[in-house]
Amino acid sequence: EGVTTLQLKVNGVSRTLQAEPRVTLLDALREYLDLTGTKKGCDHGQCGACTVHVDGRRINACLTLAVMHQGKEITTIEGLNKGEQLHPMQEAFIKHDGFQCGYCTPGQIMSGVACVQEGHATSDGQTREWMSGNLCRCGAYPNIVAAVREVAG
Ligand code: FES
Repeated sequence: EGVTTLQLKVNGVSRTLQAEPRVTLLDALREYLDLTGTKKGCDHGQCGACTVHVDGRRINACLTLAVMHQGKEITTIEGLNKGEQLHPMQEAFIKHDGFQCGYCTPGQIMSGVACVQEGHATSDGQTREWMSGNLCRCGAYPNIVAAVREVAG
């Protein structure tokens, strides 16, 4: 199978990679662009560890091909902070102990940001529903919801 040139705009930077057209967005980020903050849990759309934003909306990067996202704005966990300044959702996760082992955390944070931005954090129940695709094997859910609640104000 042939290798093709892909151009992806990730965290505001245009990146070029050579890969097979079937490469997932998740593998493009992790394996080709060294952006390993986005995690691979199940690789089948069932855990949310791979959550990133495309044009401001969250998606599971394991379920979609990189080639489909050329010309779009892709944001990963590495793109949330501004220099030393953490994103308010990152601050809130620290304040409320929104993680234990930390493996699901980048996906949780990306989902949490989208939850607030897209207006789904109007109650804890709504937040839980919106975040239900992001699994946490440590069971930090109450603290994750508390972090989202704080950012939603
Ligand atoms: Fe994509 Fe689990 S790695 S949903």
